[in-house]
Amino acid sequence: MAPSKTAEGSNQLTEAFGKELSLASRSVHADDYINSHRAVAPPMHVSTTFRYSRNPNELQPHFNVDPNSPHDSHMYSRHTAPNTTRYEAILSSLLGGPALAYASGLAAFHAMIVFLNPKRVAIGGGYHGCHGILKLMNKLNGLEQLELEDEEDLAKLQKGDIIHVETPLNPTGEARDLAYYRKKADELGCYLTVDATFAPPPLQDPFKYGVDIVMHSGTKYFGGHSDMLSGVLAVRADLAHGKDGKAGWLEGLIEERAHLGGVMGSLEGWLGVRSLRTLELRVRRQSDNTQHLVDWLGSQLKAGGNVVSDSIIKIQHASQQPEASDADSWLRKQMPNGFGPVFSLWLKSEEHAKRLPSKLFLFHHATSLGGIESLIEWRAMSDQTVDRRLVRVSIGVEGWEDLKDDLLQGLRALKVELGG
Ligand SMILES: Cc1ncc(COP(=O)(O)O)c(C=O)c1O
Repeated sequence: MAPSKTAEGSNQLTEAFGKELSLASRSVHADDYINSHRAVAPPMHVSTTFRYSRNPNELQPHFNVDPNSPHDSHMYSRHTAPNTTRYEAILSSLLGGPALAYASGLAAFHAMIVFLNPKRVAIGGGYHGCHGILKLMNKLNGLEQLELEDEEDLAKLQKGDIIHVETPLNPTGEARDLAYYRKKADELGCYLTVDATFAPPPLQDPFKYGVDIVMHSGTKYFGGHSDMLSGVLAVRADLAHGKDGKAGWLEGLIEERAHLGGVMGSLEGWLGVRSLRTLELRVRRQSDNTQHLVDWLGSQLKAGGNVVSDSIIKIQHASQQPEASDADSWLRKQMPNGFGPVFSLWLKSEEHAKRLPSKLFLFHHATSLGGIESLIEWRAMSDQTVDRRLVRVSIGVEGWEDLKDDLLQGLRALKVELGG
Protein backbone atom coordinates (compact mmCIF):
# COMPACT_ATOMS: atom_id res chain seq x y z
CA MET A 1 0.00 0.00 0.00
CA ALA A 2 1.20 3.55 -0.69
CA PRO A 3 2.07 5.65 2.36
CA SER A 4 -0.44 8.20 3.65
CA LYS A 5 0.28 11.62 2.21
CA THR A 6 -1.98 13.74 4.34
CA ALA A 7 0.44 14.67 7.14
CA GLU A 8 3.93 14.90 5.65
CA GLY A 9 4.79 18.19 4.01
CA SER A 10 1.39 19.60 4.84
CA ASN A 11 2.68 22.02 7.46
CA GLN A 12 5.18 23.74 5.17
CA LEU A 13 3.03 26.88 4.99
CA THR A 14 2.48 26.99 8.74
CA GLU A 15 6.24 26.80 9.23
CA ALA A 16 6.92 29.51 6.62
CA PHE A 17 4.47 31.95 8.21
CA GLY A 18 5.01 30.91 11.82
CA LYS A 19 1.24 30.50 12.23
CA GLU A 20 -1.66 28.64 10.71
CA LEU A 21 -3.04 30.53 7.72
CA SER A 22 -6.70 31.48 7.43
CA LEU A 23 -9.27 29.00 6.18
CA ALA A 24 -9.59 30.98 2.93
CA SER A 25 -5.82 30.78 2.24
CA ARG A 26 -5.64 27.12 3.14
CA SER A 27 -8.51 26.36 0.74
CA VAL A 28 -6.34 27.70 -2.06
CA HIS A 29 -2.88 26.51 -0.96
CA ALA A 30 -3.10 23.53 1.40
CA ASP A 31 -2.22 21.12 -1.43
CA ASP A 32 0.68 23.19 -2.86
CA TYR A 33 3.23 20.84 -1.27
CA ILE A 34 1.97 18.01 -3.45
CA ASN A 35 2.29 19.91 -6.73
CA SER A 36 5.62 19.11 -8.35
CA HIS A 37 4.59 20.42 -11.78
CA ARG A 38 4.91 24.01 -12.97
CA ALA A 39 1.26 24.12 -13.97
CA VAL A 40 -0.71 26.34 -11.59
CA ALA A 41 -4.01 24.56 -12.18
CA PRO A 42 -4.07 20.90 -11.12
CA PRO A 43 -3.87 18.31 -13.89
CA MET A 44 -6.38 15.51 -14.05
CA HIS A 45 -4.92 12.02 -13.92
CA VAL A 46 -7.12 9.16 -14.99
CA SER A 47 -4.53 6.40 -14.61
CA THR A 48 -5.50 3.50 -12.39
CA THR A 49 -1.93 2.24 -12.07
CA PHE A 50 1.51 3.82 -11.62
CA ARG A 51 4.90 2.55 -12.85
CA TYR A 52 7.40 1.14 -10.37
CA SER A 53 11.02 2.27 -10.43
CA ARG A 54 13.19 0.85 -13.23
CA ASN A 55 15.95 0.38 -10.70
CA PRO A 56 15.36 -2.99 -8.99
CA ASN A 57 17.43 -1.82 -6.02
CA GLU A 58 14.80 0.84 -5.31
CA LEU A 59 11.89 -1.63 -5.24
CA GLN A 60 10.23 -1.90 -1.84
CA PRO A 61 7.15 -4.14 -1.61
CA HIS A 62 3.96 -2.14 -0.99
CA PHE A 63 5.63 1.26 -1.47
CA ASN A 64 6.09 3.08 -4.74
CA VAL A 65 7.66 6.38 -3.81
CA ASP A 66 8.62 8.63 -6.72
CA PRO A 67 11.75 10.54 -5.58
CA ASN A 68 10.78 13.47 -7.84
CA SER A 69 7.38 13.78 -6.23
CA PRO A 70 7.36 12.03 -2.86
CA HIS A 71 3.95 13.40 -1.81
CA ASP A 72 2.36 12.46 -5.10
CA SER A 73 3.40 8.80 -5.24
CA HIS A 74 0.88 6.09 -5.99
CA MET A 75 0.56 2.43 -6.90
CA TYR A 76 -3.04 1.64 -7.71
CA SER A 77 -5.98 4.02 -7.65
CA ARG A 78 -8.10 1.86 -5.31
CA HIS A 79 -5.47 2.79 -2.68
CA THR A 80 -4.64 6.39 -3.56
CA ALA A 81 -4.73 8.55 -6.69
CA PRO A 82 -3.35 12.02 -7.50
CA ASN A 83 -6.59 14.02 -7.70
CA THR A 84 -8.23 12.56 -4.64
CA THR A 85 -4.97 12.91 -2.68
CA ARG A 86 -4.97 16.65 -3.33
CA TYR A 87 -8.64 16.85 -2.37
CA GLU A 88 -7.82 15.03 0.88
CA ALA A 89 -4.85 17.30 1.58
CA ILE A 90 -7.04 20.41 1.43
CA LEU A 91 -9.79 18.79 3.51
CA SER A 92 -7.29 17.62 6.13
CA SER A 93 -6.26 21.22 6.59
CA LEU A 94 -9.78 22.68 6.56
CA LEU A 95 -11.33 20.07 8.85
CA GLY A 96 -8.44 19.99 11.34
CA GLY A 97 -7.82 16.24 11.16
CA PRO A 98 -6.47 13.87 8.50
CA ALA A 99 -9.24 13.31 5.95
CA LEU A 100 -10.04 10.45 3.59
CA ALA A 101 -12.32 10.60 0.56
CA TYR A 102 -14.94 8.00 -0.37
CA ALA A 103 -17.26 7.45 -3.30
CA SER A 104 -20.23 9.07 -1.51
CA GLY A 105 -21.36 10.22 1.91
CA LEU A 106 -22.98 6.85 2.52
CA ALA A 107 -19.82 4.99 1.45
CA ALA A 108 -17.98 7.06 4.09
CA PHE A 109 -20.60 6.32 6.77
CA HIS A 110 -20.45 2.61 5.92
CA ALA A 111 -16.63 2.60 6.14
CA MET A 112 -16.82 4.32 9.53
CA ILE A 113 -19.24 1.74 10.95
CA VAL A 114 -17.17 -1.15 9.56
CA PHE A 115 -14.00 0.35 11.08
CA LEU A 116 -15.38 1.04 14.58
CA ASN A 117 -17.47 -2.15 14.51
CA PRO A 118 -19.90 -1.29 17.34
CA LYS A 119 -22.64 -3.56 18.67
CA ARG A 120 -24.99 -0.60 19.10
CA VAL A 121 -25.35 2.82 17.48
CA ALA A 122 -27.41 5.61 19.02
CA ILE A 123 -28.65 7.80 16.20
CA GLY A 124 -31.36 10.44 16.04
CA GLY A 125 -33.55 11.51 13.12
CA GLY A 126 -31.63 12.98 10.25
CA TYR A 127 -30.64 11.59 6.91
CA HIS A 128 -32.58 8.38 6.32
CA GLY A 129 -29.79 6.81 4.22
CA CYS A 130 -27.54 6.41 7.28
CA HIS A 131 -30.35 4.49 8.98
CA GLY A 132 -30.45 2.31 5.86
CA ILE A 133 -26.79 1.36 6.34
CA LEU A 134 -27.41 0.50 9.99
CA LYS A 135 -30.27 -1.74 8.86
CA LEU A 136 -27.88 -3.53 6.51
CA MET A 137 -25.41 -3.97 9.35
CA ASN A 138 -28.22 -5.36 11.47
CA LYS A 139 -28.81 -7.96 8.76
CA LEU A 140 -25.12 -8.87 8.73
CA ASN A 141 -24.21 -8.87 12.40
CA GLY A 142 -27.25 -7.91 14.47
CA LEU A 143 -26.10 -4.32 15.11
CA GLU A 144 -28.72 -2.58 17.21
CA GLN A 145 -30.04 0.93 16.47
CA LEU A 146 -30.91 3.05 19.52
CA GLU A 147 -32.66 6.41 19.73
CA LEU A 148 -30.25 9.26 20.42
CA GLU A 149 -32.79 11.49 22.09
CA ASP A 150 -34.09 8.85 24.49
CA GLU A 151 -32.15 8.70 27.78
CA GLU A 152 -33.30 5.11 28.43
CA ASP A 153 -31.92 4.05 25.06
CA LEU A 154 -28.64 5.91 25.62
CA ALA A 155 -28.20 4.02 28.89
CA LYS A 156 -28.14 0.74 26.90
CA LEU A 157 -24.89 1.76 25.18
CA GLN A 158 -21.72 -0.06 26.18
CA LYS A 159 -17.99 0.44 25.71
CA GLY A 160 -17.06 0.49 22.03
CA ASP A 161 -20.55 1.49 20.86
CA ILE A 162 -21.20 4.69 18.90
CA ILE A 163 -23.09 7.88 19.58
CA HIS A 164 -23.67 9.32 16.11
CA VAL A 165 -24.89 12.91 15.96
CA GLU A 166 -25.98 14.60 12.78
CA THR A 167 -25.84 18.35 13.25
CA PRO A 168 -27.50 20.36 11.91
CA LEU A 169 -30.10 17.78 11.07
CA ASN A 170 -31.49 16.85 7.70
CA PRO A 171 -34.10 18.05 6.71
CA THR A 172 -34.89 20.64 9.40
CA GLY A 173 -31.50 22.36 9.74
CA GLU A 174 -31.80 22.23 13.54
CA ALA A 175 -28.60 21.75 15.56
CA ARG A 176 -27.66 19.35 18.35
CA ASP A 177 -25.32 20.04 21.30
CA LEU A 178 -21.98 18.31 20.68
CA ALA A 179 -20.50 19.07 24.13
CA TYR A 180 -23.48 17.28 25.70
CA TYR A 181 -22.96 14.17 23.58
CA ARG A 182 -19.17 14.16 24.13
CA LYS A 183 -19.86 14.04 27.88
CA LYS A 184 -22.35 11.20 27.39
CA ALA A 185 -19.90 9.28 25.18
CA ASP A 186 -17.16 9.64 27.81
CA GLU A 187 -19.46 8.43 30.60
CA LEU A 188 -20.46 5.38 28.56
CA GLY A 189 -17.05 4.61 26.99
CA CYS A 190 -18.48 5.18 23.50
CA TYR A 191 -17.14 6.74 20.34
CA LEU A 192 -18.64 10.04 19.26
CA THR A 193 -19.05 10.44 15.51
CA VAL A 194 -20.62 13.43 13.81
CA ASP A 195 -22.24 13.93 10.43
CA ALA A 196 -21.38 17.59 9.88
CA THR A 197 -22.59 17.75 6.27
CA PHE A 198 -25.00 20.64 6.96
CA ALA A 199 -22.36 22.87 8.59
CA PRO A 200 -19.03 22.66 6.77
CA PRO A 201 -16.15 24.99 7.64
CA PRO A 202 -16.33 27.86 8.56
CA LEU A 203 -19.68 27.24 10.25
CA GLN A 204 -18.74 24.52 12.74
CA ASP A 205 -15.65 22.66 14.00
CA PRO A 206 -16.70 19.37 15.64
CA PHE A 207 -13.09 18.55 16.61
CA LYS A 208 -13.29 21.44 19.12
CA TYR A 209 -15.67 19.15 21.00
CA GLY A 210 -13.39 16.10 20.95
CA VAL A 211 -15.38 14.25 18.30
CA ASP A 212 -13.60 11.04 17.21
CA ILE A 213 -14.59 11.01 13.54
CA VAL A 214 -16.20 13.80 11.54
CA MET A 215 -18.11 12.67 8.48
CA HIS A 216 -19.40 14.70 5.55
CA SER A 217 -21.33 14.06 2.41
CA GLY A 218 -18.83 15.95 0.24
CA THR A 219 -21.50 15.80 -2.46
CA LYS A 220 -23.04 18.87 -0.79
CA TYR A 221 -20.84 21.86 0.12
CA PHE A 222 -17.38 20.46 -0.69
CA GLY A 223 -18.53 19.75 -4.25
CA GLY A 224 -20.83 22.77 -4.09
CA HIS A 225 -21.99 22.65 -7.73
CA SER A 226 -24.32 19.62 -7.79
CA ASP A 227 -21.99 17.74 -10.11
CA MET A 228 -20.05 15.19 -8.06
CA LEU A 229 -20.56 12.53 -5.39
CA SER A 230 -18.13 12.37 -2.50
CA GLY A 231 -17.90 11.26 1.11
CA VAL A 232 -15.33 12.29 3.68
CA LEU A 233 -14.12 10.96 7.02
CA ALA A 234 -11.75 13.11 9.10
CA VAL A 235 -10.09 11.53 12.12
CA ARG A 236 -9.25 13.33 15.39
CA ALA A 237 -5.55 14.17 15.05
CA ASP A 238 -4.41 12.29 18.20
CA LEU A 239 -6.08 9.06 17.02
CA ALA A 240 -4.82 9.19 13.44
CA HIS A 241 -1.36 7.71 13.70
CA GLY A 242 -0.33 4.56 15.54
CA LYS A 243 2.05 4.27 18.46
CA ASP A 244 4.24 1.39 19.63
CA GLY A 245 3.99 -0.46 16.32
CA LYS A 246 0.15 -0.39 16.32
CA ALA A 247 -1.71 1.11 13.37
CA GLY A 248 -3.57 4.36 14.00
CA TRP A 249 -7.13 5.04 12.87
CA LEU A 250 -6.03 6.74 9.67
CA GLU A 251 -3.86 3.81 8.64
CA GLY A 252 -6.66 1.39 9.55
CA LEU A 253 -9.24 3.29 7.54
CA ILE A 254 -6.90 3.53 4.53
CA GLU A 255 -6.34 -0.21 4.58
CA GLU A 256 -10.04 -1.00 4.95
CA ARG A 257 -10.99 1.47 2.21
CA ALA A 258 -8.75 -0.40 -0.20
CA HIS A 259 -10.74 -3.55 0.60
CA LEU A 260 -14.20 -1.98 0.62
CA GLY A 261 -13.30 -0.35 -2.69
CA GLY A 262 -15.60 2.65 -2.28
CA VAL A 263 -13.06 5.23 -3.44
CA MET A 264 -13.81 8.53 -5.10
CA GLY A 265 -13.13 8.81 -8.83
CA SER A 266 -10.40 11.01 -10.29
CA LEU A 267 -12.80 13.37 -12.07
CA GLU A 268 -14.60 13.89 -8.78
CA GLY A 269 -11.27 14.49 -7.00
CA TRP A 270 -10.38 17.11 -9.61
CA LEU A 271 -13.80 18.77 -9.34
CA GLY A 272 -13.52 18.62 -5.56
CA VAL A 273 -10.20 20.50 -5.52
CA ARG A 274 -11.61 23.14 -7.83
CA SER A 275 -14.68 23.53 -5.61
CA LEU A 276 -12.84 23.66 -2.29
CA ARG A 277 -10.94 26.74 -3.46
CA THR A 278 -14.15 28.75 -2.98
CA LEU A 279 -15.65 26.84 -0.04
CA GLU A 280 -15.48 29.69 2.44
CA LEU A 281 -16.89 32.27 0.01
CA ARG A 282 -19.77 30.02 -0.97
CA VAL A 283 -20.70 28.79 2.48
CA ARG A 284 -20.64 32.24 4.12
CA ARG A 285 -22.72 33.69 1.31
CA GLN A 286 -25.20 30.79 1.36
CA SER A 287 -25.55 30.95 5.13
CA ASP A 288 -25.97 34.76 5.14
CA ASN A 289 -28.56 34.56 2.35
CA THR A 290 -30.43 31.95 4.36
CA GLN A 291 -30.46 34.06 7.50
CA HIS A 292 -31.93 37.01 5.60
CA LEU A 293 -34.66 34.79 4.16
CA VAL A 294 -35.45 32.97 7.39
CA ASP A 295 -35.60 36.28 9.30
CA TRP A 296 -37.92 37.72 6.68
CA LEU A 297 -40.17 34.63 6.64
CA GLY A 298 -40.20 34.60 10.45
CA SER A 299 -41.23 38.25 10.64
CA GLN A 300 -44.05 37.63 8.16
CA LEU A 301 -45.29 34.63 10.13
CA LYS A 302 -45.23 36.63 13.34
CA ALA A 303 -47.07 39.59 11.81
CA GLY A 304 -49.79 37.38 10.27
CA GLY A 305 -52.37 38.45 7.71
CA ASN A 306 -50.01 38.21 4.71
CA VAL A 307 -49.30 35.82 1.85
CA VAL A 308 -46.54 34.02 3.85
CA SER A 309 -48.68 33.41 6.93
CA ASP A 310 -51.60 32.34 4.72
CA SER A 311 -49.69 29.25 3.52
CA ILE A 312 -46.74 28.57 5.86
CA ILE A 313 -47.30 27.39 9.42
CA LYS A 314 -43.77 26.79 10.71
CA ILE A 315 -40.09 27.38 9.88
CA GLN A 316 -37.39 25.03 11.16
CA HIS A 317 -33.74 26.14 11.20
CA ALA A 318 -31.03 26.33 13.86
CA SER A 319 -31.60 30.10 14.02
CA GLN A 320 -35.17 29.44 15.17
CA GLN A 321 -34.11 27.32 18.16
CA PRO A 322 -34.54 29.19 21.47
CA GLU A 323 -30.77 29.00 22.21
CA ALA A 324 -29.99 31.04 19.07
CA SER A 325 -30.98 34.27 20.81
CA ASP A 326 -28.69 33.63 23.83
CA ALA A 327 -25.10 34.72 23.07
CA ASP A 328 -23.74 32.36 25.78
CA SER A 329 -25.64 29.29 24.58
CA TRP A 330 -24.03 26.07 23.33
CA LEU A 331 -25.60 26.78 19.94
CA ARG A 332 -24.00 30.19 19.45
CA LYS A 333 -20.63 28.73 20.53
CA GLN A 334 -20.97 25.70 18.29
CA MET A 335 -22.07 27.71 15.23
CA PRO A 336 -20.35 31.08 15.63
CA ASN A 337 -20.32 31.96 11.93
CA GLY A 338 -23.91 31.28 10.90
CA PHE A 339 -26.58 28.62 11.18
CA GLY A 340 -26.27 26.99 7.79
CA PRO A 341 -27.98 27.21 4.40
CA VAL A 342 -30.74 24.60 4.82
CA PHE A 343 -34.11 25.02 6.50
CA SER A 344 -37.57 23.49 6.35
CA LEU A 345 -40.96 25.03 5.86
CA TRP A 346 -44.21 23.44 6.98
CA LEU A 347 -47.03 24.33 4.64
CA LYS A 348 -50.70 24.47 5.58
CA SER A 349 -51.50 21.23 3.78
CA GLU A 350 -49.87 18.43 1.82
CA GLU A 351 -51.30 19.98 -1.35
CA HIS A 352 -49.62 23.32 -0.60
CA ALA A 353 -46.27 21.58 -0.03
CA LYS A 354 -46.60 19.55 -3.21
CA ARG A 355 -47.50 22.54 -5.38
CA LEU A 356 -45.29 25.36 -4.10
CA PRO A 357 -42.03 24.17 -5.76
CA SER A 358 -43.62 24.26 -9.23
CA LYS A 359 -44.57 27.91 -8.75
CA LEU A 360 -40.95 29.07 -8.36
CA PHE A 361 -38.51 30.24 -11.04
CA LEU A 362 -35.17 30.51 -9.21
CA PHE A 363 -35.49 27.43 -6.99
CA HIS A 364 -35.10 24.10 -8.76
CA HIS A 365 -37.49 21.45 -7.51
CA ALA A 366 -34.92 18.76 -6.74
CA THR A 367 -33.42 16.77 -3.92
CA SER A 368 -29.93 17.34 -2.43
CA LEU A 369 -28.44 20.55 -1.11
CA GLY A 370 -25.25 22.54 -0.78
CA GLY A 371 -24.91 23.67 -4.39
CA ILE A 372 -24.57 27.25 -5.63
CA GLU A 373 -28.13 27.12 -6.93
CA SER A 374 -31.12 27.23 -4.59
CA LEU A 375 -33.20 24.07 -4.35
CA ILE A 376 -36.58 23.34 -2.86
CA GLU A 377 -37.96 19.85 -2.35
CA TRP A 378 -41.35 18.55 -1.38
CA ARG A 379 -39.52 16.20 0.93
CA ALA A 380 -42.00 13.35 0.59
CA MET A 381 -40.51 12.85 -2.90
CA SER A 382 -37.35 11.28 -1.45
CA ASP A 383 -37.96 10.63 2.26
CA GLN A 384 -40.91 8.51 3.34
CA THR A 385 -40.29 9.26 7.02
CA VAL A 386 -41.19 12.98 7.03
CA ASP A 387 -44.46 14.84 7.36
CA ARG A 388 -45.96 15.37 3.92
CA ARG A 389 -46.49 19.08 4.57
CA LEU A 390 -42.75 19.72 4.74
CA VAL A 391 -40.60 21.31 2.05
CA ARG A 392 -36.81 21.45 2.45
CA VAL A 393 -35.02 24.53 1.17
CA SER A 394 -31.31 24.73 0.32
CA ILE A 395 -30.15 28.25 -0.38
CA GLY A 396 -27.55 29.03 -3.03
CA VAL A 397 -25.42 32.06 -3.85
CA GLU A 398 -28.06 34.07 -5.74
CA GLY A 399 -29.10 37.50 -4.47
CA TRP A 400 -31.32 36.85 -1.45
CA GLU A 401 -33.78 39.60 -2.39
CA ASP A 402 -34.38 37.81 -5.71
CA LEU A 403 -35.04 34.58 -3.83
CA LYS A 404 -37.44 36.45 -1.56
CA ASP A 405 -39.27 37.87 -4.59
CA ASP A 406 -39.49 34.40 -6.09
CA LEU A 407 -40.96 32.97 -2.89
CA LEU A 408 -43.43 35.86 -2.68
CA GLN A 409 -44.70 35.43 -6.23
CA GLY A 410 -44.82 31.63 -5.75
CA LEU A 411 -46.88 31.94 -2.58
CA ARG A 412 -49.22 34.41 -4.30
CA ALA A 413 -49.70 32.02 -7.22
CA LEU A 414 -50.34 29.18 -4.78
CA LYS A 415 -53.00 31.24 -3.05
CA VAL A 416 -54.75 31.92 -6.34
CA GLU A 417 -54.66 28.20 -7.19
CA LEU A 418 -55.66 26.78 -3.80
CA GLY A 419 -57.48 29.71 -2.24
CA GLY A 420 -57.35 30.38 1.50
C1 LIG B 1 -26.73 14.66 6.34
C2 LIG B 1 -26.41 13.74 5.21
N1 LIG B 1 -25.53 12.74 5.42
C3 LIG B 1 -25.22 11.86 4.44
C4 LIG B 1 -25.79 11.95 3.20
C5 LIG B 1 -25.43 10.95 2.14
O1 LIG B 1 -24.54 11.52 1.25
P1 LIG B 1 -24.34 10.99 -0.25
O2 LIG B 1 -25.59 11.30 -1.00
O3 LIG B 1 -23.14 11.75 -0.72
O4 LIG B 1 -24.10 9.52 -0.15
C6 LIG B 1 -26.69 12.97 2.93
C7 LIG B 1 -27.33 13.08 1.60
O5 LIG B 1 -28.25 13.83 1.41
C8 LIG B 1 -27.00 13.90 3.97
O6 LIG B 1 -27.87 14.90 3.78
